[in-house]
Amino acid sequence: MMTAAALPQDLFDPAVVIEHLGKTYISDKGAAPKVALQDVSLTIPQGSILGLLGPNGAGKSTLINIMAGLVTKTSGRVVIGGMDLDDHPVEIRRHIGIVPQEINMDPFFTPLEILEFQAGFFGVRHRRARAMGILEALGLADKANITARSLSGGMKRRLMVAKAMVHHPRVLVLDEPTAGVDIELRQLLWQYVRRLNQEEGVTVLLTTHYLEEAQQMCDTIAIIHKGALRAFEKTDVLLSKIDSKRLILTFAHPLETVPSFLTIFQPKKTSPNTLVLDYQPNPEAIQKILAAIAGAKLDIADIETKQGDLEDIFLAFTREH
Ligand SMILES: Nc1ncnc2c1ncn2[C@@H]1O[C@H](COP(=O)(O)OP(=O)(O)OP(=O)(O)O)[C@@H](O)[C@H]1O
Ligand SMILES: [Mg+2]
Repeated sequence: MMTAAALPQDLFDPAVVIEHLGKTYISDKGAAPKVALQDVSLTIPQGSILGLLGPNGAGKSTLINIMAGLVTKTSGRVVIGGMDLDDHPVEIRRHIGIVPQEINMDPFFTPLEILEFQAGFFGVRHRRARAMGILEALGLADKANITARSLSGGMKRRLMVAKAMVHHPRVLVLDEPTAGVDIELRQLLWQYVRRLNQEEGVTVLLTTHYLEEAQQMCDTIAIIHKGALRAFEKTDVLLSKIDSKRLILTFAHPLETVPSFLTIFQPKKTSPNTLVLDYQPNPEAIQKILAAIAGAKLDIADIETKQGDLEDIFLAFTREH
């Protein structure tokens, strides 16, 4: 019989543990110290895709750059793949792939050279095949041999993703990888990330300003605002917390006044022909509304319902106090 002790323990360990992380930037030009992160704690299970969301300046890149070893933390602890960042910075670099927000690459080399060099640095076998395979997956195969500086902005960003992946990292960290990437290629990029996650079990941490993207890609969402963690939950749990749905009624003719039978639902008139009603999402409420409309025999041109989405939650958690 196989005992739990005989199983590789790291299978059960979280991919990333962040405890009470704090960062205060001290400027050397006499500016006031800037608190960018305070007391942020997060645990990312293996195989998870975590979306880190927050407005500009929230501290997302600071957190990612600490994981990448590009920024030194002021306080707290970071453990990646069971290794403490303070004790194992070099091993951690092998374990994770980071796509920073700022594009940084040598513009005079070709994508193939850049990837082959990166592969060599990490001792990857079959370098050329590995480099070409990634370029292909990211739609860059036909650009393999031109200098990187002649790539477009979106292509450069995809090359950054390729570079982060070359050494088969177990944790992939992407800081706004789709900024400036067009819709079609954005989908290609996400397909690739999803495949890495599903087929190879790679754990993913990503930031994006496209909330729809986060809603579709991530099983867990963390929202930070002004350096503090405001929400950290499974995406579906977070979404289920939205307690209102919206019904949009478009009438065939302009309405002079709100029909009296609808006033109890406190509708808002958003155009001469349109009423918007917010209601608690339960079957009883919608039945009442529909019955009232049917009873009144109004000429309705269209009915639309809208589920609250991540955007509503995001706004609620980042509203100024
Ligand atoms: N090197 C630095 N020195 C001083 N302050 C910094 C430095 N880097 C970042 N900051 C400040 O720390 C705060 C967090 O910045 P950070 O780049 O982490 O935000 P972000 O969430 O990634 O924002 P964005 O969505 O714009 O990328 C900001 O107020 C920023 O001005
Ligand atoms: Mg950033």
